[in-house]
Amino acid sequence: MKVEKIEAIPLDKKIAEKYAMQIAKQHITQAIKKVKYLGGGSFGRAYGIEFADGKKIVVKFLRANDMLDKEIHDLKLLGDNCPVKIPKVLFVEKAGDSIPVDCYGMERIEGKNALMAFGMLVQSKRKRDKFADEVTSALHQIHCYKNHKFGDTISPDCDDWIEYYKPFAKAVMDKAEEMYKANTLSEEIITAMRMAWSKFDIIFSEKVEEACLIHGDLNVANIMVGKNYKLSGFIDPLNSMYADREYDLFQFDNLTGKRFNLRKTYIKKYGASKLCDVKCAFYGLWNEVYCFIKTGQLVSIIMNPLIKNMRERLAEL
Ligand SMILES: Nc1ncnc2c1ncn2[C@@H]1O[C@H](COP(=O)(O)OP(=O)(O)O)[C@@H](O)[C@H]1O
Ligand SMILES: [Mg+2]
Repeated sequence: MKVEKIEAIPLDKKIAEKYAMQIAKQHITQAIKKVKYLGGGSFGRAYGIEFADGKKIVVKFLRANDMLDKEIHDLKLLGDNCPVKIPKVLFVEKAGDSIPVDCYGMERIEGKNALMAFGMLVQSKRKRDKFADEVTSALHQIHCYKNHKFGDTISPDCDDWIEYYKPFAKAVMDKAEEMYKANTLSEEIITAMRMAWSKFDIIFSEKVEEACLIHGDLNVANIMVGKNYKLSGFIDPLNSMYADREYDLFQFDNLTGKRFNLRKTYIKKYGASKLCDVKCAFYGLWNEVYCFIKTGQLVSIIMNPLIKNMRERLAEL
């Protein structure tokens, strides 16, 4: 994970829609009935394509050069080890003369992402608990796939989790200090980070025994729900690793995830280390600062609760 700013390759939404149709037609020789922009973050852009016979696929563009191979690899690896649907990749196209960004086609998962399924927020506690139960069971199944080394899924090569994670955390800390000096990162963020960094050896004093496969980015926007808000799939892995499985829990608290008690449900069902809460606070804050470094975009509704949580968990140490 390179800790540096990445310039997204420019891609106009309307032009990308044309590219999506062009590429879909090329690979699936059928008339297209509909195309629709589905969403995307800093580097991704997804389009739904419906063919004349009703078949539906998604074409996703990646506006950074080094993402395609990993995303394809991880969708397959996770798909092979997860009881809920993870989209199968149908075709892959590297950037070329006619389309300037990498892209791939995949199966369309039914429904919408759980962040956009607003009605879920006002469902009964029983239904929200059931959703949390299904999500956590499926994630735990992924975590049951182990490796003898820690590290990135493509080349895991560390005997110990901290041997892999600490250099990354240090690189994020160093870059944050550099940005703070350049007035591009706030006092509030750097203060919380400095406090946490000074306690790194305490926070990570428990040994992580097993290198578990993790999704890496399982927040509510990457969890799909279909009719009656039933869990229909997981999408969009990022930074999938063989890791401390608790690394997969901080994303459960981002955005509207807390409403479903996802993290606590996982811990209740499968247990956690003694320092899990403070570790998750650290993972969450560091990941968000890492995203900020990469994209230059600060997402306050995610960052502010992470800073507050870091301070509170440190006070309990
Ligand atoms: N295979 C899929 N099936 C259905 N919807 C999808 C699929 N992939 C992406 N989407 C929709 O597009 C949105 C953006 O795609 P995503 O892969 O999460 O992009 P990003 O990497 O930019 O977050 C998702 O939140 C979801 O609503
Ligand atoms: Mg996403």
